[in-house]
This record gives sequence, structure tokens and C-alpha cells, in this order.
Amino acid sequence: MPLIPNQRRLFDIPDDVAYFNTATMGPMTKASVEAGQKGLARKLQPWHIQETDFFADTERLRPLLAELIGADTDGIAFSPSVSYSLATAAKNLPLSKGQEILILEDQFPSNVYTWRDLASATGATLRTVGTRGNETLSDALLSAIGPDTGLVACGHIRWTDGALIDLAAVGTRCREVGAALVLDLTQSCGALQFDVKTIQPDFVAVAAYKWLLAPYGTGFLYVAPQHRGGTPLEQNWITREGASNFARLIDYTDAYAPGAQRFDMGERSNFALLPAFEEAVRTVLGWGVANIEETLGARNAALADRLAEIGMSCLAEGTRGGHYLCPALPESVPADLTARLKEDGVFVSRRGDRLRITQHLFTTESDTDRFVARLAHHLVT
Ligand SMILES: Cc1ncc(COP(=O)(O)O)c(C=O)c1O
Repeated sequence: MPLIPNQRRLFDIPDDVAYFNTATMGPMTKASVEAGQKGLARKLQPWHIQETDFFADTERLRPLLAELIGADTDGIAFSPSVSYSLATAAKNLPLSKGQEILILEDQFPSNVYTWRDLASATGATLRTVGTRGNETLSDALLSAIGPDTGLVACGHIRWTDGALIDLAAVGTRCREVGAALVLDLTQSCGALQFDVKTIQPDFVAVAAYKWLLAPYGTGFLYVAPQHRGGTPLEQNWITREGASNFARLIDYTDAYAPGAQRFDMGERSNFALLPAFEEAVRTVLGWGVANIEETLGARNAALADRLAEIGMSCLAEGTRGGHYLCPALPESVPADLTARLKEDGVFVSRRGDRLRITQHLFTTESDTDRFVARLAHHLVT
């Protein structure tokens, strides 16, 4: 597969900015921002907004979101955040006393508090899985899954260090013991290939403002077929059967729109955000997730070699997401390292004792050269 050529021209990133922080906030393309601005401007003249418009944007986007994860369109619901999606999952996964909920050490807080809450409501036990010795995080999780496991909640990679989870193996093990599998793919969707047909999760949550390069406040929830008759977090008019007939909305009905639409968030038909979200997803699908994975993987492998030359080691290839590079920082690292790099026009984040380096297709060779040179400089001064 050919690597994707640099896409900087699509973004509004000046030459003196080296942005290695997609994992915090993916930049939007200029086209995506324009689509959002046009959408927002529709409210200047609301008389042009048609009743059918409440459905058009969502139903154009739903199949595209499904395509990202190999799902059927019916399995996709709109969600503003991971916490919202996981709250929906928690509401629809009955657990009982004696069962365990497995999460990973240092997991993202939205994917921890939800399960703390479910554990205290049901009497289930929340167990945090960490590694011992040279064990990989994925192996640690696999060996923790057993007959008492009621639910496993994790991601494709860990957000702090990029440690890769073998989701195919985790999915198989969950099915063997009858445990539910809930995934937060925020730090991988759009950058690592994933297929719900292979992994067979119960729920998948994705916030789209990072690797999908979409606006903040956009995202989606995948719901497996066996949960599509479940209970949504909120009771909204547009998720009901016949909602397109505005004149008859007061003919209240208990029937929902088909598939996972019952789980759509309130005011899902956001005229400003959805066009930008759609443009972003079309761009990612146009590049192709497999091609993005390969391109970022190759670039990060080369960058990891350069970091090794200045004494910084990353997780080995195959045990980390290829799009994610998190070298351990030496003990002597200046406390203000990321602030110093920012002054050099290099944007990167620190998570615990690691530097989190997340480039994308907008990253140029000269960005990388500057980053490595400035990092090497600050590590010795
Ligand atoms: C792994 C992961 N999940 C979720 C989120 C965002 O969560 P929420 O949408 O609940 O704000 C982040 C943000 O950094 C993240 O890294």
C-alpha cells in the first residue's frame, strides 16, 4: 500500500508550528471548518431550514460512521462525549454482586468513573488491571478475564503510553466467559483499523475531536444488535417513530425509530457541528483508515529510531499503536519541558513520566527535525 503524501495544505497550520498533539485535540481541516461555518450561518435565516433538514445531516453521516468501524448503519447513535456513551452502555448492562468489572490501570477517567458508579449501584467489584515485570498490558488483561468477569471496559490503546490491546483476543475471551465488552476507541478510531464484526463488542464509544479531526462535542456510540431494544439515557422526541411528521408530534408514542437511533442524544440534529463532522469523516475515509495506520506507523517507527539516538525509548513496535509514540522521560527531565517546547513552536503533551507524541498527516519532515533537535537540547540543559 502506498504511504499517504503529506496533507498539510488542507490545514491551517503555519510553518513555524510543529503540532504533535493530535491525541489531545486533532486540528480540523479548512474544509471542515468552512462546512461548520456554513451550517452555523443557516441560523441567520432560519426560515430556510426545512423539517426534513432535522434528519438529512444525521442520516447522511450515520452510514459513514458505521463504515469507520465495519458496523451496520442501524448500530450507530449520535453522542456528544464518551461519558454520555458509556453512561448509556452502563444503563443497559445488568451486573450483579460478585461479578467483576475489569478496567486498565491509568485508563481515561470517563471510562473509570462510569464503572465506579455502576459497581456501587450493582454491588459488582471494580478491578484495575496493571502489568507485572515484562508482561504486556494486553496479556495482563487477557489473563485477568475469568468466570467472575461480568464486563471489560478498555480501549484499543492506552491513552497515556499507546500500549496496544489485542482486541480480537479480548473479544474472544469475553465471549468464552460471557462477559460484556465495552470499548472506548477515542484514541484510535480513524488511525487504527477496527471491525465490529471481528471483535463483537457490546458497545463502542468514540469522541471524534481527536483522530477523526472533527469538532469538539461530536462523537458516536455503536450498539450491538442484542442491545438495540434497550433504554436510552434520555427520552427525546426525535428518536420516536414518526418524528418526521412535525404536525403530529403530540400523538405520543412509545415506539422508537429503528436500530440504535433511540440512543441518539437530544438535539442530535446540530446544524453547525454535523456538516463539519461529516466533512471530517469523509476526509478520513477518503485517505482510508488502513492507509493512515500504515503511514503514521512508518513515520513513527522512523521517529522512534531518532528518539532512541537521544536516549529515549518507546514501547516496541507491535506492543503499541503505530500512530502513538510515548517515550519514557529521563528522571533528569526539566519540569517545564512541554512549556519550553511550546516556546520553540513545538506542541506535544506529557502524561505522567512519558512524553506523548502524536503526529498526523499534516506533520512535515521539518516539523520532526525541529522537534527532535529542540527535545535533545532541552534534555541536556
Ligand atoms: C481515551 C479517551 N477517552 C475519552 C476522552 C474524552 O472523554 P469525554 O468525551 O468523556 O470528555 C479522551 C480525551 O482525552 C480520551 O483520551
